[in-house]
Amino acid sequence: MTTSDTPSEPRTLRIAILGCGFIGTAVLSGILKASDTSNNTSTNNLKFSLSAPSQTSVDRLHHQFTSQRYRDHIDVITADNATAARDADVVIFAFQPHQLAQVFSDTMLVEILRPKLVISLLAGVSCREILDKLSPEKVKDESKAKSTAPLPRVTRAIPSIGAQINESATLLAGDTDLSAADHDLVTWLFGLVGATHEVPERLINAVTAISAATHALAVVAVDAIVDGGVVSGVSRPVAMAVATQCLRSASTVLKGGESGMTLEGLKEAMSIPRGITINALLELERGSVRSGISDAVRYAVGYAEGM
Ligand SMILES: NC(=O)c1ccc[n+]([C@@H]2O[C@H](COP(=O)([O-])OP(=O)(O)OC[C@H]3O[C@@H](n4cnc5c(N)ncnc54)[C@H](OP(=O)(O)O)[C@@H]3O)[C@@H](O)[C@H]2O)c1
Ligand SMILES: *[C@@H]1O[C@H](CO)[C@@H](O)[C@H](O)[C@H]1NC(C)=O
Ligand SMILES: *[C@@H]1O[C@H](CO)[C@@H](O)[C@H](O)[C@H]1NC(C)=O
Repeated sequence: MTTSDTPSEPRTLRIAILGCGFIGTAVLSGILKASDTSNNTSTNNLKFSLSAPSQTSVDRLHHQFTSQRYRDHIDVITADNATAARDADVVIFAFQPHQLAQVFSDTMLVEILRPKLVISLLAGVSCREILDKLSPEKVKDESKAKSTAPLPRVTRAIPSIGAQINESATLLAGDTDLSAADHDLVTWLFGLVGATHEVPERLINAVTAISAATHALAVVAVDAIVDGGVVSGVSRPVAMAVATQCLRSASTVLKGGESGMTLEGLKEAMSIPRGITINALLELERGSVRSGISDAVRYAVGYAEGM
C-alpha cells in the first residue's frame, strides 16, 4: 500500500467493535498483527474498545487480547455496548443481524452512535436500515436534518475469516455517501487485514455469498480429499498437510501476479497424457461436482439476497 492511503495525522484513532465474536476477533487480531509488524504511526495509534454479549465472551476477549503485546491497543472490554462505543471515533458492528433491534433498543447507545462513523459487518442488513435507526424521527425530514445534527455516517464492510492472517477478501460498499476522508479510512483499515474489493451495495449480498460458498467448498473439499487419502492408506495428518498446501498453491497461482496462470493454463499444465491429474479431473466430472458447486453458489446468492 502507498503512504497516501494512510490517514496523515498520527493522532489516536479509537475504534469500538460491538459484538466482537468470530469475525470481530478475526479482524481485530489481523489489525493488531499488522501494527505489530510495522512501525507505521497510524497503526501504532489505534485503540480498541470491545463489547460482547455474555460474560463468557468478555472473558474470552480478555484472555485473547490483554497480553503484554496488545495491552496498549485495548482500552476496554465490556458487556455494555454504550460503554464500548462512547469514546470511539469509529464503531464497527460485528454482532449478528438478528441482534440489531436489541442493540438499537438502547437509546443511550443510539445517541452515542449518531455522530460517529459506523461500519456494519452485518450480512443482509442495508445501510438504509441502519441510517433509519440512527436518524431521530424529527430529522428524518431532510430539510430539518441540516439544522439539528450532523447526518449519520454509515457504510458496510464484509470481511472474511482470512482477516486474522492478513488474507481477508473484504467487500466494501462502494456507493455510500461517505466523505472522501471516511472512505479512505475504511479502505485503509480493512487493507490492514487483506485485499479489499469495492462493490455497489446492491451486489454486496451476492458477492458475500460467493465468498461464503468458497469457504464452504474449501471445507467440504479438504474433508473429502483427506477421507479419500485415508481410505487409501495415507495418514490423516499427511493428507491434510498436502491437501491444504495444494489448495493454497492452486489459488495463489490462479490469483495471478508475476507467476500467475489462467484457469486453462493451469488445467493444461496439470493434465499430461495418461496423467494422474486428468484422471482425477474426469472422475470429478462424473460426480457432477461442477454443477453441484455452481448450484450451491446460486443457492447461496439467492439465500443472501433474501436475508
Ligand atoms: N463469519 C464470517 O465469516 C462473517 C463474515 C462477514 C460478516 N459477518 C457478519 O459478522 C457478524 C458476526 O458474525 P460472526 O460469524 O462473527 O458470529 P458471532 O457473533 O461470533 O457468533 C457466533 C457464536 O459463536 C460464539 N463465538 C464467537 N467467537 C467465538 C470464539 N472465538 N470461540 C468460541 N465461541 C465463539 C458466539 O458466542 P458469544 O455470544 O458468547 O460471543 C456466538 O454465539 C454477523 O452479522 C455476520 O453477518 C460474518
Ligand atoms: C449489546 O450488543 C449485543 C450484541 O453484541 C446484544 O446481544 C446485547 O443485547 C446488547 N446489549 C444491550 C444492553 O442492548
Ligand atoms: C498483508 O498483505 C499485504 C499484501 O496483500 C502486504 O503488503 C502486507 O505487508 C501484509 N501485512 C502483514 C502485516 O503481513
